[in-house]
Amino acid sequence: MSSSSYKYLYLTFLFLHLTILVTGDSPQPYLPLDNIALDCGSSSERSVNHRNWTADINSKVALLDQDSSSIQSTANQAPYDTARVSRSEFTYTFPVTTTGPKFVRLHFYPATYPGFNRSKASFSVTTGRYIFLSNFSGVHYTEPHGARGYAREFILNVEDERKNLSIKFTPSPHVADAYAFINGIEIVSMPTDLYYTAGDDKGLYDVGKDGQYSPLQKETALEIMYRVNVGGREITPPEDSTGMFRRWLEDTNYLTDARPSVFQFNGTIQLQYHKDTRYAAPEELYRTARTMGPDGTVNEKYNMTWEFPVHSTFTYVVRLHFCSFIPIFQKGDPIFQIYIANQTAELYADIVYWAAGNGVPIYKDYAVVMHARGIEELQNLSIALHPSPKTFQFSDAMLNGVEIFKLSKSDNLSGPNPGVYQDSPTSTTPPSVTSSKPKHKKSPKIRVWVSGDGASG
Ligand SMILES: *[C@@H]1O[C@H](CO)[C@@H](O)[C@H](O)[C@H]1NC(C)=O
Ligand SMILES: *[C@@H]1O[C@H](CO)[C@@H](O)[C@H](O)[C@H]1NC(C)=O
Ligand SMILES: *[C@@H]1O[C@H](CO)[C@@H](O)[C@H](O)[C@H]1NC(C)=O
Ligand SMILES: *[C@@H]1O[C@H](CO)[C@@H](O)[C@H](O)[C@H]1NC(C)=O
Ligand SMILES: *[C@@H]1O[C@H](CO)[C@@H](O)[C@H](O)[C@H]1NC(C)=O
Ligand SMILES: *[C@@H]1O[C@H](CO)[C@@H](O)[C@H](O)[C@H]1NC(C)=O
Ligand SMILES: *[C@@H]1O[C@H](CO)[C@@H](O)[C@H](O)[C@H]1NC(C)=O
Ligand SMILES: *[C@@H]1O[C@H](CO)[C@@H](O)[C@H](O)[C@H]1NC(C)=O
Ligand SMILES: *[C@@H]1O[C@H](CO)[C@@H](O)[C@H](O)[C@H]1NC(C)=O
Repeated sequence: MSSSSYKYLYLTFLFLHLTILVTGDSPQPYLPLDNIALDCGSSSERSVNHRNWTADINSKVALLDQDSSSIQSTANQAPYDTARVSRSEFTYTFPVTTTGPKFVRLHFYPATYPGFNRSKASFSVTTGRYIFLSNFSGVHYTEPHGARGYAREFILNVEDERKNLSIKFTPSPHVADAYAFINGIEIVSMPTDLYYTAGDDKGLYDVGKDGQYSPLQKETALEIMYRVNVGGREITPPEDSTGMFRRWLEDTNYLTDARPSVFQFNGTIQLQYHKDTRYAAPEELYRTARTMGPDGTVNEKYNMTWEFPVHSTFTYVVRLHFCSFIPIFQKGDPIFQIYIANQTAELYADIVYWAAGNGVPIYKDYAVVMHARGIEELQNLSIALHPSPKTFQFSDAMLNGVEIFKLSKSDNLSGPNPGVYQDSPTSTTPPSVTSSKPKHKKSPKIRVWVSGDGASG
């Protein structure tokens, strides 16, 4: 098919989908039985964006073992405007009502707190057998919200509801006057099989080990590195229609190769959910996507590519979300290739066939090991799509969403940390980077890091 008639079809499609507005039934949100939002250091309950943050002073949902300081910060929104800060170890204990996997979100507002020089923030966060963070200073390499408050999000499985979930903050013993701080903690339950392998599911496809699958075991703890709504806008936690308060960022900061022909869709097709995909992602994510666009000749010459900085030596799960909502796309057409970290994940991705139709959300999980490369602490995990030579009419590829998780290694999730803050709040220079660290001056991520260094918040 010539590119102009393809373009015509695209335009027709856009026109049609704007005129056929279906008011479909949205799936009911998931109702987490454990749903705790604890505002650390606060003495009163506050509501932010329809979410109630309960005070940790005299709290019914959490027990604090130590009378650490509760401090006001310069942030103006809960949970970031108050913090629990201490030079000695403290532990929060949460009685959870159900077993199964939980989101644990740790909210940090890295800033100067009265009496605590921020260059001394250095601590570990552990829960039971798992190490979430160590030598942590409150700054994060890959966190786009570093200058405001942000959350590091973890997943662990609670096996016995009679055992409380305890989260321990320990100042680094090797740093004089080190202290730990925390602004907010969320504990939210999720469907048992949302991420962990259940039943007769084959589990994760091991990229790099041809044709092998492995289950994601309940003993593995996860950290969410990236969660991205491809081709769409940021979906904030209160907008996450799945009811689990997940944040989905837009993909533009990670998109490193997309030619001008890339299309951004906003489908209004009525989605049909499988049992497995019901809570996988908000509907809005499946209604937006990127395709390479109508010029097949251009598409055949490049990979549409996203790059995500991750810590070396860990295994990552990459979940790709798809939902074809382009009526002219059909089984067998388009077929495309998927590369993850330069390795073949799929040679014949056929999303309409996989989903058994248009408008049916699906996802695929892949596992990839990011082997050490020299002394680089960070490297890019890339996702690249390319039309297959086996495709029929459409030399195209499509992606709706991405999630990237780090898997615990010997129960440890902590990776390297960027340098600690320098004590010059107005400085715009990044923390000193030694020559052994990767230079990522052009990366959008360096801006994140630099802004994390700014004190204004
Ligand atoms: C927040 O708490 C108030 C007062 O206790 C309650 O009326 C309201 O329903 C709660 N909101 C949510 C979203 O739980
Ligand atoms: C904080 O620590 C830095 C580095 O140790 C030091 O240069 C600075 O003077 C300290 N600031 C305050 C307010 O104590
Ligand atoms: C923590 O940082 C100190 C130096 O700041 C270093 O000596 C130590 O090895 C680090 N420990 C971990 C567990 O990363
Ligand atoms: C769990 O926490 C509650 C209070 O928060 C406490 O009464 C109970 O003893 C704890 N259970 C265990 C097993 O630690
Ligand atoms: C999709 O299009 C509708 C109508 O033009 C608009 O209201 C909505 O904001 C768009 N959504 C996204 C995610 O772009
Ligand atoms: C993937 O290939 C690109 C381009 O050749 C290279 O820069 C990058 O380092 C490779 N990444 C990995 C993880 O091998
Ligand atoms: C796409 O990426 C794969 C894996 O890195 C590479 O082998 C292939 O040459 C790339 N294709 C194009 C057209 O750049
Ligand atoms: C956890 O991992 C970090 C960095 O990957 C390492 O420095 C630390 O020693 C590990 N901790 C344990 C207890 O293995
Ligand atoms: C990751 O990719 C970006 C964009 O291509 C690049 O600027 C950056 O240097 C890369 N980072 C690493 C650690 O390779």
